[in-house]
Amino acid sequence: MSIIAIVGNKGGTGKTTLALNLAAGLAQRDGVVIIDADPQQSAYQWRLVREQDETLPMVVAAAVGLKNSVQALARTHAHVVIDCPPSIKAPQTEQALAMAEHALIPVQPSPMDLWATTHIARVVERLRPDNPALRACIVMSQIEPRTTLSRLMPDALAELDLPVVNTAIRRRSIHRHCILEGRTVYQAGRRGEAAAAEIDALIEEVLHHG
Ligand SMILES: Nc1ncnc2c1ncn2[C@@H]1O[C@H](COP(=O)(O)OP(=O)(O)OP(=O)(O)O)[C@@H](O)[C@H]1O
Ligand SMILES: [Mg+2]
Repeated sequence: MSIIAIVGNKGGTGKTTLALNLAAGLAQRDGVVIIDADPQQSAYQWRLVREQDETLPMVVAAAVGLKNSVQALARTHAHVVIDCPPSIKAPQTEQALAMAEHALIPVQPSPMDLWATTHIARVVERLRPDNPALRACIVMSQIEPRTTLSRLMPDALAELDLPVVNTAIRRRSIHRHCILEGRTVYQAGRRGEAAAAEIDALIEEVLHHG
């Protein structure tokens, strides 16, 4: 059983995209539920696009009453993936961090994203006495390997007080297409293979060896 919070302190880094795809990857083996803790309800909206498709993980909107929802759903699902709002100060982010075993923090290759992330390590440390088991790590998100910023990213991230996952999520247009269609890269056939392999590698690294 694992509770995985996808958190961040910046909008548009790829939290929701990661939450949905991570849940779909985990669902290949185990029961998974996505909890949408963001009042924007992006994950919840995504699920409505293909509401009748029972092969996709369930999304529960719980920006209000998050703690009770997580506790209840963790009893009936092997994995609970929580998609958080884009602020470390949001009460939902704190509540998710207080309950999670894993926190994944997608960070884009941009200075503004890096600066916004420095606060997260402090909040994780502050919550440590209440949740000593929490493992928080950064996931490089929307990486374009050929750009200078992407290449400089590992060095820049080394300055933050949080471990960085080896598996990086590349920027791929298939991610956008899939969200638009209410799917994940796992339902995109060959076009989604490379992206799905990345998510599988992330699951392996963080949940099975982390
Ligand atoms: N790996 C990726 N490759 C290409 N596009 C991506 C990728 N990840 C996310 N995106 C796109 O970037 C935009 C922001 O992604 P997403 O909504 O997942 O971020 P977010 O961190 O949840 O945003 P918010 O802070 O508003 O909740 C979306 O248009 C999404 O399709
Ligand atoms: Mg989001």
